[in-house]
Amino acid sequence: MKKIMHPYDITHETDMVEPLDYNRQSRLKDVDRSFKAEITNIIRLTDMEKLFQIRMVDDNDWQRFTFLPGQFVMLELPGYGEIPISFSSSPTIKSTIELCIRKTGKVTEALHRAKRGGIVGLRGPFGTYFPMEQMKGHNILLIAGGLGLAPLRAPISYVIENRADFQNVNILYGARDPSNLLFDYQYEQWNRIDDITLQVIVENPNKAWTGPVGMITKLLDDVTVPPDQTYAIVCGPPIMFKFVCNRLNAMGIPMQRMFVSLERRMHCGMGKCCRCNIGSSYTCIDGPVFDFWTVMNLKEAI
Ligand SMILES: Cc1cc2nc3c(=O)[nH]c(=O)nc-3n(C[C@H](O)[C@H](O)[C@H](O)COP(=O)(O)OP(=O)(O)OC[C@H]3O[C@@H](n4cnc5c(N)ncnc54)[C@H](O)[C@@H]3O)c2cc1C
Ligand code: FES
Repeated sequence: MKKIMHPYDITHETDMVEPLDYNRQSRLKDVDRSFKAEITNIIRLTDMEKLFQIRMVDDNDWQRFTFLPGQFVMLELPGYGEIPISFSSSPTIKSTIELCIRKTGKVTEALHRAKRGGIVGLRGPFGTYFPMEQMKGHNILLIAGGLGLAPLRAPISYVIENRADFQNVNILYGARDPSNLLFDYQYEQWNRIDDITLQVIVENPNKAWTGPVGMITKLLDDVTVPPDQTYAIVCGPPIMFKFVCNRLNAMGIPMQRMFVSLERRMHCGMGKCCRCNIGSSYTCIDGPVFDFWTVMNLKEAI
């Protein structure tokens, strides 16, 4: 049985890397301005999640709205409120953004009742991002649990579009049961790309399920990567971060090369309202993307 490292242990030589020079402070711009946008299409993914395709009403607004994988937008549904949602599409698609939204409460339930042509407000983009430039030339593990595939879909698209810049890419995705799987219509397409391997696991299979069964960490049993040549992006519920990131650390991957996206309740999205703090950090401007080393040193981050 493999030994699981305590997060604070620094026993691997590969842990002794310099802190990464990724963008810790979001690029704040146009924060007070809300862009008027239109819902152009709505795709039902599961009973709980829908994918919203949204475009700016004024085409000129795109120039001021460049985002990076891992960032989020404050989405306003007039009359209901404003919520933070991660970009779920490629930043290179200039005409449309895609947001995958789970129905959980007041605003998200109202959004699930919205129709094509509905008008919404967008503020942002906000937050730190996955340091894709820094990851170039390396192997990448893209790991998601449940709704975590929504934010992970942006770096997946980025890697696919810049395939030659990266070494081997492993996408690992775990869900509770087959009916919870997001974006299953894309799995075949992702798997067909050279040196991209997608593995999907569920905890509770149905009769039709022929794939692996269990927790997401089980998929890591079959992954062999040179730890000093590998980065990982992990998106999902906080409990998953501990299990997955500790396991990756046991494989020799430094915590500074693992990136996670944290969630807190947010109001302003721009470091003004103090709603989203973790200790002295604000999730909206110092995050939501943090390296796992930082997360382990932030009290009550996960
Ligand atoms: C940076 C960031 C990115 C996000 N990306 C996505 C995304 O891509 N897709 C998506 O579906 N959701 C995402 N969320 C979560 C989303 O913002 C919340 O689900 C939403 O704000 C709930 O609003 P509501 O009015 O529907 O629910 P409310 O009526 O406000 O709350 C319903 C329930 O959800 C809980 N809740 C609300 N917000 C959060 C939160 N931030 N974290 C944990 N629990 C919460 C409440 O405590 C309550 O129990 C993200 C959150 C953050 C901070
Ligand atoms: S949401 Fe206001 S400070 Fe972060």
